[in-house]
Amino acid sequence: MERSLTMELVRVTEAAALSSARWMGRGLKEEADDAATQAMRDVFDTIPMKGTVVIGEGEMDEAPMLYIGEKLGTGYGPRVDVAVDPLEGTNIVAAGEWNALAVIAIADHGNLLHAPDMYMDKIAVGPEAVGKIDIDAPVIDNLKAVAEAKGKDVEDLVVVILNRKRHEKIINEVREAGARIKLLRDGDVAAAINTAFDDTGVDIMLGAGGAPEGVIAAVGLKCLGGELQGKLLPHNEEELARCKKMGIDDVNRKLTMDDLVSGDDCIFAATGVTDGELLQGVHYKGSNATTQSLVMRAKSGTVRFIDGKHSMQKKPDLVIK
Ligand code: FBP
Repeated sequence: MERSLTMELVRVTEAAALSSARWMGRGLKEEADDAATQAMRDVFDTIPMKGTVVIGEGEMDEAPMLYIGEKLGTGYGPRVDVAVDPLEGTNIVAAGEWNALAVIAIADHGNLLHAPDMYMDKIAVGPEAVGKIDIDAPVIDNLKAVAEAKGKDVEDLVVVILNRKRHEKIINEVREAGARIKLLRDGDVAAAINTAFDDTGVDIMLGAGGAPEGVIAAVGLKCLGGELQGKLLPHNEEELARCKKMGIDDVNRKLTMDDLVSGDDCIFAATGVTDGELLQGVHYKGSNATTQSLVMRAKSGTVRFIDGKHSMQKKPDLVIK
């Protein structure tokens, strides 16, 4: 894969962030999502690659989303798989809260998990705890293993979990173990990536979220030397059938890093939409706007934080329906 694609992808996430951040706090999550999607599509059209969305938030008939199977790029250049979430945290933007991202991940063709948009159970850690976790093990065992790997007591750990009814059992188990918890309203990509950055104070992420977010976060953690394990959670016969159609025969299988993203030729790019622990969101300053992005390439191990300043002479239209 071309190294130069790394910087091109930041243009995609920056454009999505700049467009969707306009909707911050307006209570209109679909409009925020549409703005990010449209901006991503427009910039992808200028990027020299033959991309196919292999996992994302929509299927063919669910436009305007970037749908699974959609072709992205100019059609010339490297053939790549794309995992995409134009706006990770639509509710976050609608409410003006923390940690919304515009995010994409790409890998060599055939190297990303091809799966429907459904739930995935996940466990994620940063580099120090790689090889120590097991999604099939009891919560307490994983907490002890991570604490030992990081030279901490279980009581010192911070576990990030989406605040959902389905996580009641995990939350109780973590509380019983004595570890601390950060309950999230939304945004488990940021949560998983944060486990690899000491300054965020986050040690491990547990619980079920979207499968596209799982693959995207796995690419990010591959670039950072961390680990994410997943398990697809089809909820009905129809989701099961969709998994089979996409070539996943054993849906109960533990998905390791290599199942989620094989090889190391992959790139992760994210731009903050609202402020977060790792990235600042879009700040509009009259004639310009600033963005902060994280872009990483696993093959070289390069991790870049990029501050952008963008001319805002031409503001995107805010059409309120
Ligand atoms: P979107 O805003 O992209 O829909 O995702 C937000 C999110 O919180 C993800 O981070 C997470 O994986 C998923 O939704 C969890 O799904 P649910 O809200 O249905 O529990």
